[in-house]
Amino acid sequence: MDTARDPSPRFDDAKAEQFAERMMTALNDAALVMMTSIGHRTRLFDSMAGRPPSSLKEIAAKVGLSDRYVREWLAVMVTSRVVDYDAVNETYHLPAEHAAFTTRAATPDNFAVAAQYIPLAAGIEDIIVDRFRTGEGVHYHDYARFHEVMAEDSGQTVVAALFDHILPLVPGLTGHLKRGIDVLDVGCGRGRAMLKLAETFPASRFQGIDLSEDAADYANASAAEAGLSNIRFTAADLSTRERFGTFDLVTAFDAVHDQKDPQGLLDSVARSLNPDGLFLMQDIGGSSHLERNADHPLGPFLYAISTLHCMPVSLAQGGPGLGTMWGEELALDMLEQAGFGNVTVERLPHDPINVYYLARA
Ligand SMILES: C[S@@+](CC[C@H](N)C(=O)[O-])C[C@H]1O[C@@H](n2cnc3c(N)ncnc32)[C@H](O)[C@@H]1O
Repeated sequence: MDTARDPSPRFDDAKAEQFAERMMTALNDAALVMMTSIGHRTRLFDSMAGRPPSSLKEIAAKVGLSDRYVREWLAVMVTSRVVDYDAVNETYHLPAEHAAFTTRAATPDNFAVAAQYIPLAAGIEDIIVDRFRTGEGVHYHDYARFHEVMAEDSGQTVVAALFDHILPLVPGLTGHLKRGIDVLDVGCGRGRAMLKLAETFPASRFQGIDLSEDAADYANASAAEAGLSNIRFTAADLSTRERFGTFDLVTAFDAVHDQKDPQGLLDSVARSLNPDGLFLMQDIGGSSHLERNADHPLGPFLYAISTLHCMPVSLAQGGPGLGTMWGEELALDMLEQAGFGNVTVERLPHDPINVYYLARA
């Protein structure tokens, strides 16, 4: 490949060639991620999973989609080595090993869910380019489908892992929930985690608070549909620095770093807990220092989501814009500042992105 030559004698041809290849791979991978999101939303992956090699017409008909679009989509999947193509019989096949990471049945290992963040964030590229000049933030309502995708994502990382992984982090917690305690989820979004807990532990009482009226309405409608009377969701700004009530357990799932006032929220949580209460905070792992994240397996993805979503939504509220990669060092400092003197940090194998802070006074 031709590379633009720097006249300097120190120009390293091999390094330039390697970088050009790296960028070409990036273009292909970006295209694959975009098409993976579409394959998820159109249920193409789901419908191809477990089926024998099939023709284009069979695949398109099964999901009721246009042949012409499905053919182009399949071409991306074949050239990306996701789908196998038999040129003699003109059939396409999604191997079981690939369905294991691209289908709803594969939850919590479905990468296609997270793939949706890239087109979701790319939808506001024009706004972000402008914000690079002005330094202003971006409002939640500028993102199409944010709460929908977020709920689907935390459906994998949180809801699917609640009983086998997350609750067992705290010895005795399941027993307390069975007997009946008061629980609050801050920044609850569509509230799927609380809904699952409310259904499982009818003797406990659950609340969720989120800035988004749409998300709170959606969560309340889900509670009504499920016939749950031990849960309610409220749309409110968590940045009042007031107590939220008195709770035995407060949870925050990926909901502290993009707040208007993250330190204020932690202070309020600390003051809303019973003396032996617990704050369970799941948030993005990684370090507060860039150089320590150099080998993070999802470093570029997480910093990109930070630039395109987590940082600007905080800035738009007048917040500090901590960013997705605020890191464990800063999180621990802020928890201590809020009065949590006893904090342990746990990692769970199903969730390589997040860490779990168990914080007590
Ligand atoms: C990354 S999402 C996580 C949502 C949810 N916990 C989940 O896991 O699906 C962060 C949430 O914090 C909420 N949020 C942001 N700023 C807020 C504020 N100032 N007050 C209340 N909620 C806020 C957002 O609306 C969003 O639902």
